[in-house]
Amino acid sequence: MTLPDSITRIQLFNTDEGKSIGLSYFKERGYLETTIREFGLGYAPNTKDGLTKAALKKQFKEEHLKLLGLTTRNDYDFFRTRVMFSVHNLSGKVVALAGRIMTSDKTQPKYINSPESEIYVKHKILYGIYQAKTAIRKEDECILVEGYTDVITLHQGGIRNVVASSGTALNKEQVRLIKRFTQNIKLIYDGDPAGINAALRGLDIILEEDMNIRLVLLPDKEDPDSFFKKNGTEKFASYLKENEKDFILFKADHLLQFAGNDPIKRVEVFKEIIQSIAKVADHMKRFTYVNLCSTLMKMDEQILIAEVAKVMDQNLKARRIQENRDRLRANREAASNVDFSTDERNDYNLPVIPVAPRITGDEFQERDLARIMICGCDKLYGENEESTVGEYLVTNIEDSLTSFENTVYQQVFSYAIDKMKKRRKLTPTGFHSSPE
Ligand code: CTP
Ligand code: MN
Repeated sequence: MTLPDSITRIQLFNTDEGKSIGLSYFKERGYLETTIREFGLGYAPNTKDGLTKAALKKQFKEEHLKLLGLTTRNDYDFFRTRVMFSVHNLSGKVVALAGRIMTSDKTQPKYINSPESEIYVKHKILYGIYQAKTAIRKEDECILVEGYTDVITLHQGGIRNVVASSGTALNKEQVRLIKRFTQNIKLIYDGDPAGINAALRGLDIILEEDMNIRLVLLPDKEDPDSFFKKNGTEKFASYLKENEKDFILFKADHLLQFAGNDPIKRVEVFKEIIQSIAKVADHMKRFTYVNLCSTLMKMDEQILIAEVAKVMDQNLKARRIQENRDRLRANREAASNVDFSTDERNDYNLPVIPVAPRITGDEFQERDLARIMICGCDKLYGENEESTVGEYLVTNIEDSLTSFENTVYQQVFSYAIDKMKKRRKLTPTGFHSSPE
């Protein structure tokens, strides 16, 4: 299923209402036309079913429009008189829309979002990841903010490694998505209690994935969008530099202040801090945290070391059990996936993946990836079959293609990327013909 997102852009750029209400709103917020186009911003008109009719005219099926939440059960447009934001997945496909209200009517939600659907699984998406992924890899850092406009404003201002969790608490899938590009996360949150709590909720998930986290709190009542607009690129960057804090130390400090002198609360807080420290995999880093937190907690360093070790031991045991379970399952799956038949795949004279022993080395992986690309490029992939194996591989490999060791395997991917750019269908047999 595909979202008819282009109709909201047509409304924005090509209709009088879109131009006078939507486009002028975005321009007032300081967005340049290139930014508006890059982020696929649009407009939903003040009509009963203007968007739905436009989509039907473009041959979109009514049933799909309802499943994607663009049209309500009563055949009304779901988004009306709102400026529209496109939510892209990692490969750049629009999987959801969000609409921001144009009035200050407090009885209506400021933003409304597409419901979850076959193509939109909310907890797996980070707003802006498609536009940010190259910069995240290059900067080796991902900046995490809360809102759509925070992402767009910073991106336009040259800070391009930014994504948003869009009002939901950060979850494991989102952290893993970031981890594909970097180990370093910087959270920028409002300095009010709600912002601090939202940030703290994300902490352990990030630590569990063995990522480094830093936190920047903004002055009260500011979000990254408003703060950036007041200060500009240089001042904003220096504010980040001066105010970024290590997250574990921030958490310890914050929780200890909250516990005050209440002994029961203090013990609870101690336990929580110890849990966080125990999740730090690097032992030098961990020791530094022990050292600094023992001062903050006014606790003997040796006792703290012993407590952290105890928790690590418990965690390790739990992880071993889980890993054993995972390994057994993976072996079972791999064994059932090996294809010993002499079908067309063997015409390519490419080896079947050996289940064991595993050969390491980049070239082996390159060969394996090329084999999967050739054999499975047109197969549907993902829990909801939202993309093909080919698209998935290209999205993940494109940036590292230049560092391939083996030029033949590199050509396999260059060919696939070229085809996809030309919007042609990739098929296993296509790899037989010489690249155009
Ligand atoms: N949000 C949402 N639904 C709402 C309110 C908020 O999905 N009803 C999400 C949006 O992703 C929004 C983010 O939470 O961008 C932060 O909300 P808020 O701070 O209220 O909005 P801003 O991003 O500051 O939006 P604006 O600058 O346009 O006022
Ligand atoms: Mn805002």
